[in-house]
Amino acid sequence: MAKKPEKPNEPETTGHSWDGIEEYNNPLPRWWLWTFYATIVWGVIYTIAYPAWPLVNRATAGIMGFSTRAEVARDIQTFADANAAIEAKLAAADLATVAADPELQSFARNAGAAVFKTNCSQCHGSGAAGAKGYPNLLDDDWLWGGDIESIAFTVRHGVRNETGDSRFSQMPAFGEILSEEEIAQAAAYVQKLSGQDHDAALAATGETVFIDNCSACHTEAGTGDRAQGAPNLTDAIWLYGGDHATLIESITKARFGVMPAWGQRLSDAEVNAVAAYVHQLGGGE
Ligand code: HEC
Ligand code: HEC
Repeated sequence: MAKKPEKPNEPETTGHSWDGIEEYNNPLPRWWLWTFYATIVWGVIYTIAYPAWPLVNRATAGIMGFSTRAEVARDIQTFADANAAIEAKLAAADLATVAADPELQSFARNAGAAVFKTNCSQCHGSGAAGAKGYPNLLDDDWLWGGDIESIAFTVRHGVRNETGDSRFSQMPAFGEILSEEEIAQAAAYVQKLSGQDHDAALAATGETVFIDNCSACHTEAGTGDRAQGAPNLTDAIWLYGGDHATLIESITKARFGVMPAWGQRLSDAEVNAVAAYVHQLGGGE
């Protein structure tokens, strides 16, 4: 209960008392009260005008039609419109001439870098240095070809996948064809070809095994054949590994590395952009 003051000129108190401390019963300041009412009115208007109350599937839309989603879509459209001309140019470009057009080249590199980060880095590494079974795209050792047209073809159609134009070849699993001894001999011969320490006696017999079974794809000299994606076995660059045990595994089981066909998921401009990007990374021919 509010209490009248005991002395004149003292404000009324609320009647609450804590350890003798009493609370004055002063009215709220006018300016405070009106500001408070104004915020309530503002709050109601705001929830009518803008998206506010959560419902089951989405919030109330608000009569102003504001939507962050639509704003993002509009921004994306603005950039798409701004790039449409140069994207069309890149999609139709003769890839061999992209490097001669600085504006196109710079657009392709930047767009290609973004495409690479999103779609390629999981397998080839964010720096394109590759990993076991996933080729390094920085060096000048190419399974299928390192000129920009060949790279674009590999990207568009992929390798050993189900699509019709995919690059394709299949090394037989020699575990079903050769004896373990012959496989060890062939592996030793591959070690010799690539200039590594090897068992000389095994490698000597391995040469015949190699010429008879392997040269059709890897060539007699072992330098590989790009028409079949058969790796060069004489350089020190390995897709799967060059030590004796890994070579035996490669020969016994064969590998059958698969890359998806990107032509189905990326636009022509994106395929060309990422091909131009990979081509200028260092190993392009
Ligand atoms: C799912 C894993 C995977 C993804 C994702 C992937 N690749 Fe590959 N890529 C491979 C494999 C595996 C090979 C090697 C196939 C072989 O053994 O011949 C390869 C080979 C290549 C080659 C041929 C290299 C050469 O030496 O000839 C190029 C170029 C290439 N990829 C570019 C790309 C680009 C660009 C992208 C992104 C658009 C991409 N790859 C995404 C797995 C992948
Ligand atoms: C029909 C063609 C073909 C024949 C025959 C063939 N290879 Fe291959 N070889 C390939 C292809 C293609 C690859 C690429 C790997 C894959 O299949 O993904 C490969 C990969 C390899 C690799 C892995 C290289 C690396 O960088 O890790 C080794 C080692 C190898 N072959 C050795 C041999 C030996 C030894 C023989 C004979 C006993 C042989 N190949 C016969 C096509 C062939």
